[in-house]
Amino acid sequence: MLHDFVTLRDLTADEILGLLDLADDLKRRQRKGIAHRLLDGQTLAMIFEKPSLRTRVTFEAGIFQLGGHAIVMDSSQSRLGERESVPDVARNLDRWVDGVMARTFSHEAVVELAEHASIPVINALTDKLHPCQVLADAQTLREHKGGDFSSLKLAFVGDGNNVCASWFNFAARLPLNVTLACPKGYEVEEEIHAYAQQHAKGEIVVTHDIESALKDADVIYTDVWISMGQEEESDKRKRIFAPYQVNAKLMAQAKHDAIFMHCLPAKRGFEVTDDVMDGPQSVVFDEAENRLHAQKAIMVELMRKDDDGLSRKRRARLKF
Ligand code: CP
Ligand code: NVA
Repeated sequence: MLHDFVTLRDLTADEILGLLDLADDLKRRQRKGIAHRLLDGQTLAMIFEKPSLRTRVTFEAGIFQLGGHAIVMDSSQSRLGERESVPDVARNLDRWVDGVMARTFSHEAVVELAEHASIPVINALTDKLHPCQVLADAQTLREHKGGDFSSLKLAFVGDGNNVCASWFNFAARLPLNVTLACPKGYEVEEEIHAYAQQHAKGEIVVTHDIESALKDADVIYTDVWISMGQEEESDKRKRIFAPYQVNAKLMAQAKHDAIFMHCLPAKRGFEVTDDVMDGPQSVVFDEAENRLHAQKAIMVELMRKDDDGLSRKRRARLKF
């Protein structure tokens, strides 16, 4: 049973589908103005080592709509574990709040936080993974292409980065076909690729050939060429990734009803052109909206208390 949300690999296919159903239900309630204070009086601590628009606003609005509130800890000046150890941060937060969300450089920092905290920990992006993004995107994908992922092909065009890696993990649980088209040297981590190959029910491909990746694609997904923390590689990356720009010509090589997805923020004129971002196939702001609903589902699932006032994680820890 789910205690933390660190990687999609920690979830079964049914748990992912359960979260998506809950996200749909919370979205319906939110839109109809039906109160859903499922986390009444609970507090979420939010740790940010990196900037954010969507994650910051959707988690803070989300916990408020669920009847709780957020404390934003600006950690942009020092990394988690620098001022005091990660286990000690966990042991402190444990005594005050009901859940913690962390966006860090080091993936290990979030893993360590989850290990040492008896409150649930949510990965809100690390250098390695961005599972909240992909859960919200899966909700968006279902809305636009129906409930069954198995007949769909997602072509991820660009960098084999944290968002791409989370799509590979998703494909290790649900039968989505995923192809990454990237320049040589920018593939998704070998271990992530191998894990997806081993567990996937759909087809997993890594290629440098854009045309074959786009053929029969239902989804064209891209992300920035320069992720947060890679700014020094900016010039080099702009040169190397230029052929991978998602523009009208490239979109035309996919299925005629393919959708365009991007986690945002976008660098217009680099990985995507304005006409694609703002065009009829783009669902990027639906993705942004669903960050709210999907993350509310994650918080409800992890932080909901039983009759003794214990979350599932805390209850499990008491047993040992
Ligand atoms: N997509 C995403 O995580 O956006 P932010 O970096 O603005 O939170
Ligand atoms: N790959 C990007 C995603 C931003 C939401 C980054 O890590 O900066």
